[in-house]
Amino acid sequence: MTKPYIVAHILSSIDGRIQTRNWPVRNLAGLFERTAETFKSDAWVVGRKTMQEFSSVKVHRLGRAHASIPKKDFVGRHSAKTYAVVIDPRGKCFWDSNMVTSEHVIEVLTEAVSTAYLKHLREKQVSYIFAGKTSIDLKRAVTKLAKLFRIKTIRVDGGGIMWGAFLKASLIDEISHVVVPVADGSIGTPSVFDAEIGHTSRQAKALQLKSIKQLPGGIIWTRYRVVN
Ligand SMILES: NC(=O)c1ccc[n+]([C@@H]2O[C@H](COP(=O)([O-])OP(=O)(O)OC[C@H]3O[C@@H](n4cnc5c(N)ncnc54)[C@H](OP(=O)(O)O)[C@@H]3O)[C@@H](O)[C@H]2O)c1
Repeated sequence: MTKPYIVAHILSSIDGRIQTRNWPVRNLAGLFERTAETFKSDAWVVGRKTMQEFSSVKVHRLGRAHASIPKKDFVGRHSAKTYAVVIDPRGKCFWDSNMVTSEHVIEVLTEAVSTAYLKHLREKQVSYIFAGKTSIDLKRAVTKLAKLFRIKTIRVDGGGIMWGAFLKASLIDEISHVVVPVADGSIGTPSVFDAEIGHTSRQAKALQLKSIKQLPGGIIWTRYRVVN
């Protein structure tokens, strides 16, 4: 099965910071969405921290373990054609329904999650797949997404750790980067690609410029092909 085509869609300050709440610019969520929607994708993928901005805000208490629930992939009942995927190694996102707007939710988990958590997902008919024993193997995750849900195109919508993990796994085909004319300067906040601390033996990725566009408000939108 061929790997889905993967675009990382990013909005950042000129210094690569991605937390926008202190920026003196409005409607950045709208800008992110408008530029994102230009990519026809079967699924968007986010890290656990970003998805917690969309998942249940209620306090959920997990009950006892359920030995009868196997640690096997599960496809919930749904009629959606597109998907909202969260990479959630320990099962920290809780759900009130199995949808985020018009997309069906898929949790990508490790086998470290409890059967009580799987029961919660089954009750809400949230789909889930396993992609590792204690840490996530992203290649395995995207292969399963393609096989089980026929996902051919993916947009990775953040945050920094998620883009960094996809970059490190050499899974990104294209980068869409919206640069807002803001200098942030914070240290220790999420950045465009948070893959690991310091320089390691891993080579940085070379990019080929595909297009560059100026948007109102001095915003620059560039697209790159990743040379993998
Ligand atoms: N400006 C933008 O374009 C943009 C877009 C999206 C988000 N954001 C912002 O970015 C912030 C969140 O970004 P973030 O980088 O802190 O978090 P994130 O990428 O949203 O989520 C990181 C979490 O994902 C899990 N994870 C999944 N796969 C992993 C892997 N291979 N390696 C390590 N962790 C993995 C871990 O969860 P566990 O800790 O549970 O193990 C990790 O803590 C928020 O403030 C959000 O608003 C900005």
